[in-house]
Amino acid sequence: MNICVIGTGYVGLVVGTCLADFGMNVTCVDKDKEKIDRLSRGEVPIYEIGLEEMIRRNLKLGRLHFSTDLDAAIERSLVVYIAVGTPEKDNGTADLSQVFEVATRICRKMTEYKVIVVKSTVPVGTAKKLREFIIEGREHNVEFDIISNPEFLREGTAVDDFLHPDRIVIGGDSERAMAIVRDVYRPLHLIDTPFINCSNETAELCKYAANTMLALKVSYINEIANLCERIGADVSQVAAAVGLDKRIGPHFLSPGPGFGGSCLPKDVKAIVDVAEQLGYDFKLAKASIEVNRIQQEVVVEKSRRLLGSFDGKVVCLLGLSFKPNTDDTREAPALVIARNILAEGAAINAYDPVANEEAARNLKDVHYFEDAYAACEGADLVIVTTDWNEFKHIDFSRVMGVVRTPNIYDTRNIYNPQTLREAGFTYLGTGRP
Ligand SMILES: NC(=O)c1ccc[n+]([C@@H]2O[C@H](COP(=O)([O-])OP(=O)(O)OC[C@H]3O[C@@H](n4cnc5c(N)ncnc54)[C@H](O)[C@@H]3O)[C@@H](O)[C@H]2O)c1
Repeated sequence: MNICVIGTGYVGLVVGTCLADFGMNVTCVDKDKEKIDRLSRGEVPIYEIGLEEMIRRNLKLGRLHFSTDLDAAIERSLVVYIAVGTPEKDNGTADLSQVFEVATRICRKMTEYKVIVVKSTVPVGTAKKLREFIIEGREHNVEFDIISNPEFLREGTAVDDFLHPDRIVIGGDSERAMAIVRDVYRPLHLIDTPFINCSNETAELCKYAANTMLALKVSYINEIANLCERIGADVSQVAAAVGLDKRIGPHFLSPGPGFGGSCLPKDVKAIVDVAEQLGYDFKLAKASIEVNRIQQEVVVEKSRRLLGSFDGKVVCLLGLSFKPNTDDTREAPALVIARNILAEGAAINAYDPVANEEAARNLKDVHYFEDAYAACEGADLVIVTTDWNEFKHIDFSRVMGVVRTPNIYDTRNIYNPQTLREAGFTYLGTGRP
C-alpha cells in the first residue's frame, strides 16, 4: 500500500517511519527542504530514542522515502496522512492554516479515490469543514473519505508509544475508509491493541479530552504540592498513596514546574475555545491553565526568596527541554522560568544534554554549556528544571567545588534532601517538608 505522510515533525516522522516498518511503502513529505535533505541522508533532525536506527533500516530496505514533492506523493498514495502543525494562535485558538494549505493541494492533485487521515490534533468539527472544503475545491470529481485518527504518542518515547499504543481511535463515516485504516494498523491489532471506531467528531474530542485530563492531573498534584509546603507534608508520599488507588492510577502525579511541550498547553486552550464557541464554560480546563501559569511563577518566587534578590546573581538551569529524552523546548517551563529570572537581573548559565541548540533559538541571553559542571561554575543557585537521568547521578562534591553559593532547587524531586543538606547544600524541592 502506498502511503504519504505530510509534515515530517515529531509526529509525522515517527508515524511515517513506523508505518514503513510495518511493511508499507511510505513517502514522508515536508516543505522544509533542509530537513528532507538531511533525512534522505539518514540524518535525524530530532532526538527520539530508536528513531534513527529505524529510519536508516527502512531507507535501506527502500520502503521509506523523503520528499518535498507533495503533489507527486498525493497522486501515488491511497492513504494521505496529514501530520502538519496546528500551533496556538495569539488568542489561544488552534491555527489550522497548515492543514488547509495541504487540503488545497489535495484538491488539485486528487485524481482517484483517497483516504485522508487527519493525524494532526484539530478542533472538533475540522473533519467536517475539511470535507466541505475539498468537495467545493476538488478539480476532479473523485471520491474521498476523511478519517480522524488522533495521535497519542509522547515525545521521548514516541517510537515505543506508536508501536505499543494504549488504543487506536478511528473516526469516520465510511466503512470502506475505516477498513483501509484498520488494515494499515493490522500489526497493532495483532498485539491486541484496543480499537475505538467512532464518528469524526468523537475522535477529534478524544484527543483533547485525554490531554485535558493529563493537564488536570499535573495541575492537581502541583496544587497538592503547594499545600504540602504549607502543611509540612511530603507530596511524594501523598502522590504514592493517591496513585495506588486503582481508580486514579500513579501516572502524571509527579509535581514540578508545570506542564509544557507542544501539546498540553495548546490543546487545553483549544478545548476551552471549542467549548466557548458552543456556549459552554469549561471551568476545569481553564483552572488547569491558570494553575500551570502560577506554578512557573512559584519556582521564580521560591528562588527569589532563597537568594534575597536576583540582581547580580548567577542562576544555573539544568535541563531546558520540557521533559527528558527530547530536544523539544516548545512551552518548556525552563524557558519561561529563565525569561522571568533574566528580567529580574540575574545571569543564567544553562545545560541540557540535547536541547541547548533548540533553546538558543528562542532564548538568546543565556550562557549555554556543554556539561553540567561547567554550567554550575560560579552559580548562586542551581535549579534542576528537567529530570534527565544524567542529573540524577550528578557528583555533588564536584558541584560543591565550583558553585559560588551551594543552593540547589530540585523542582522535580529527584534528590534525597537529607543527603544534599548533609553535603552542605541549602535544598529546596517541590512539596517536600
Ligand atoms: N509533538 C507531539 O508530541 C504530538 C503528539 C500528538 C499529537 N501531536 C499533534 O500532531 C501535529 C504535528 O505535531 P508535531 O509536533 O509533529 O509538529 P512539528 O511542528 O514538529 O512538525 C510539523 C511539520 O509540518 C511541516 N509542514 C507544515 N506545512 C506543510 C506543508 N504544507 N507541506 C508539507 N509540510 C508541512 C513543517 O515544516 C514541520 O516539519 C500537531 O497537530 C500536534 O498537536 C503532536
